Amino acid sequence: MIFQALCNCMDFTSWLLLTLATLLVTDVVRNWRPHSFPPGLWALPFLGNIFTEVDFKAIEKLADIYGNVFSVRLGRNKTVFVSGYKMVKEAIVTQADNFVDRPDNAMADRVYSGDSGGLFMSNGETWKRQRRFALSTLRSFGLGKSTMEQSICEEIRHLQEEIEKEKGEPFNPASLFNNAVSNIICQLVMGRRFDYCDHNFQSMLTYLCEILRLQGSVWGLLYDSFPRVMKHLPGSHNKIFSHYDSLLDFMNKEVESHKKDLDHSDPGDYIDAFIIEMEKHNESDLGFTEANLALCSLDLFLAGSETTSTTLLWALVYLMKYPDIQDKVQVEIDGVIGRSRQPSMADRPNLPYTEAVLHEIQRMGNIVPLNGARMATKHTTLGGYLIPKGTTVMPSLTSVLFDKTEWETPHTFNPGHFLGAEGKFVRREAFLPFSAGKRVCPGEGLAKMELFLFLVGLLQKFSFSVPDGVELSTEGITGVTRVPHPFKVYAKAR
Ligand code: HEM
Repeated sequence: MIFQALCNCMDFTSWLLLTLATLLVTDVVRNWRPHSFPPGLWALPFLGNIFTEVDFKAIEKLADIYGNVFSVRLGRNKTVFVSGYKMVKEAIVTQADNFVDRPDNAMADRVYSGDSGGLFMSNGETWKRQRRFALSTLRSFGLGKSTMEQSICEEIRHLQEEIEKEKGEPFNPASLFNNAVSNIICQLVMGRRFDYCDHNFQSMLTYLCEILRLQGSVWGLLYDSFPRVMKHLPGSHNKIFSHYDSLLDFMNKEVESHKKDLDHSDPGDYIDAFIIEMEKHNESDLGFTEANLALCSLDLFLAGSETTSTTLLWALVYLMKYPDIQDKVQVEIDGVIGRSRQPSMADRPNLPYTEAVLHEIQRMGNIVPLNGARMATKHTTLGGYLIPKGTTVMPSLTSVLFDKTEWETPHTFNPGHFLGAEGKFVRREAFLPFSAGKRVCPGEGLAKMELFLFLVGLLQKFSFSVPDGVELSTEGITGVTRVPHPFKVYAKAR
């Protein structure tokens, strides 16, 4: 009996050792760095560089050590980071087709699936078709047109009224800005806006912000690295999925009510147009399905809300930190538009200083510090290194916006970066907060319109300052996006 048990025990031990050895060999083979592969940190088997902090600042330090193309093993797989304006441009513009796809990741696999890759995670023909459909549909509902300016200006009036209700007392502007900006994309996608006191909508906005924070946190990294284990463990990563479920539920209800009220001869928004397109496609492989409709709408809502409202929060941070710059912008606006006429996009060329300040806010705000992850679609050479097909590639937008070979004073808030002789506005090649190439942010035009009109509309009516003794931080909290630490402002009516 004892012998038998010992044998069994021995068998189990041998089996365990053999399994571990197999896993180890598989792991080593899978992550073997060939000679021509970009250099990088030495990584532990199974765990990779999980114990090394690899936020956007650490990435910059690693680039100083290893050069503009280097690798880090985040969990199971190696990621190649690309740094500096010239190399990022080489990857995403010059070699656009080689790095156009998004890689698989465990978190996205749980939310998106198969033909339902939404706009952000889909690849190939489905991505091309969906991206084209989204852009042309949003354009037909006003994107980039003067009707859009009107609805933004109307939203600005709502926002101004809400700020007036604070009666000069200090308040945190984050949720007001988020609601106001989200209403613009909601009008295009769902054909309606939400009141600032709509509690359900406020919860959706909170979920959305938390998803972006957690996805870019250590919880997101742990889940992506060890999904099978993390799935069963408690932790903040679970919130990502429960929040996604709530947001999808919210979007599915919108789709249901659109289906009920749809007038085929007069579609009113993106959801209506998608439903009509879906009827033409049946079981199409181009993503025109109801499941994908909810995901595409959610992607537009996610990508089009927090990004722009966070940029407006950074605008307040920098304008309050540099009150003389705030004064100068207001003097320019007073001279060109005055304090009562609504701003319009036609005013933009006449406000070069305001335009320069807004660009510098976007540069220093650096709200998407990395980029959307990309994947090599075939064996590709970049910076003299071989990037095998299927490798995840992450171009660092921080390294572009702060590239010391491109910017005169990269780490100082300096609107002069965008001003030429006689105070004229000048474009800069290395200004890439929206990324570049085939996957460049499709909301760039809308975001620029929103940022300009919202900022001018706010500064026409209010001067912003922080309560005495408060030191504003420009450090920010980094997830997928970089958000200022919560702060309160005084909005003094002008
Ligand atoms: C200040 C505001 C914004 C910034 C800084 C920003 C930045 C970005 C960046 C860096 C990407 C990744 C691109 C890449 O992988 O190369 C992206 C993708 C995307 N953005 Fe924006 N964005 C902003 C506003 C918007 C708005 C208003 C919309 C809504 C229309 C939007 C919709 C999207 C979508 C759908 C994608 C995915 C595109 C694709 O994968 O083809 N964004 N954005």
